Amino acid sequence: MRQAFRAAICHCLGDPGEDSTASAFEFFDDAILLVEDGRVAALGPADQLLPALGDTPLTEFAGRLIVPGFVDCHVHFPQIDLIASYGEQLLDWLERYAYPAEQRFADADYAAATAALFLDELLANGTTTACVFATVHPQSAEALFAAAHTRGMRLIAGKVLMDRNCPARLQDDPASAYRDSLALLERWHGKGRLGYAITPRFALSSSEEQLAAAGRLAREHPDVWIHTHLAENHREIRAVAQQFPWSSSYLDVYEQFGLLRERAVFAHCLHLAREDVDRLGRAGAAAAFCPTSNLFLGSGLFDLRVMREAAVRVGLGTDVGAGTSLSLFATAADAYKVLQLQGQSLPAAQALYLATLGAARALYLDTHIGNFVPGKEADFLVLDPAATTLGAHRDRLAETLAERLFALFTLGDDRHVQSTFLQGKPARPRGAG
Ligand code: GUN
Ligand code: ZN
Repeated sequence: MRQAFRAAICHCLGDPGEDSTASAFEFFDDAILLVEDGRVAALGPADQLLPALGDTPLTEFAGRLIVPGFVDCHVHFPQIDLIASYGEQLLDWLERYAYPAEQRFADADYAAATAALFLDELLANGTTTACVFATVHPQSAEALFAAAHTRGMRLIAGKVLMDRNCPARLQDDPASAYRDSLALLERWHGKGRLGYAITPRFALSSSEEQLAAAGRLAREHPDVWIHTHLAENHREIRAVAQQFPWSSSYLDVYEQFGLLRERAVFAHCLHLAREDVDRLGRAGAAAAFCPTSNLFLGSGLFDLRVMREAAVRVGLGTDVGAGTSLSLFATAADAYKVLQLQGQSLPAAQALYLATLGAARALYLDTHIGNFVPGKEADFLVLDPAATTLGAHRDRLAETLAERLFALFTLGDDRHVQSTFLQGKPARPRGAG
């Protein structure tokens, strides 16, 4: 089954922040993306590819821009219920909003309905792959995997491990945490486009026995992901130091339990000593840069420059519900501001990288997704920079591609995502059946 799509097209072949932009970022004014059996078969200028199309069906998107599907490296699906809750910093916010809301997910029907809503919102925002926290309830992860499988999305997720410093109704224990994670892993990891992440919430909410059980599971399954939070908030960091007095740092706690390695994804990474940033880089672990959350909770500023220096894999995360939008556009716009506050910056090509290929590398998925190299899965977005009155006005006045793209990444939201394709097929439109 071959299909061709025609529009302006851009994608990243490398990190425009490191390689010269010319080789890392490719743009075609008028291009053809050729898809065969859900994978990219070719990408090139329309005048070169059109003559060879024969009777291949061609869909034309005049005035639109095609980019690879967005990748959200850190988000909590149950927290869609509490997005935009007022006034607290991390530990109080967890007590006041997150923990009460997460208790609803003991109900499998509620979890299934919310998983459907959440995934449809991701697709409406152009997110085709995500690394997702469920709740402590295995049925919440089960519901999320089932809903992602039905939709054909790429998803990494796991049941949360938490057995102390949280409400009793949200606590598991080391044995059940191991057993329930293993059952989910065996059922879903590698099924279709799904992957399992061992998901200790954060060091504060797990006993040493539970972290050891998580480490054992990780050792027994080197190809699964590990997903947790690291060094987000000063009060949290002090509490971790008290709870693990033997540790040399917050990251050291995870390392001692075998949770620092390739495919480990650490959300936030705001307040780390340089030595720990280097350890992340050497381990091949990833940092999820969650700027809307970090600003909303007043947590701090992510230092992208130091992460780059230490060769840490970095992708963007929305971190809803502490994050304030499921849109990677809104997330990139706040990433730019967070970097400006530190004398750094984020050109549009780099924002696109962090939302696509960079995030795919962070999740060790770049052999499957992230750009339009032939053979990769054809997840892509048709963007309409002129979807809003202001967007249309700004887009008309832009003189260069960099300017157009930057304005789109600064002003964009779900209205600018005209359609989302998963493996060459349009994803179910918002509100449909
Ligand atoms: N640290 C532990 N749990 C959470 C959570 O749910 N959200 C955020 N932002 N940080 C956390
Ligand atoms: Zn989070």
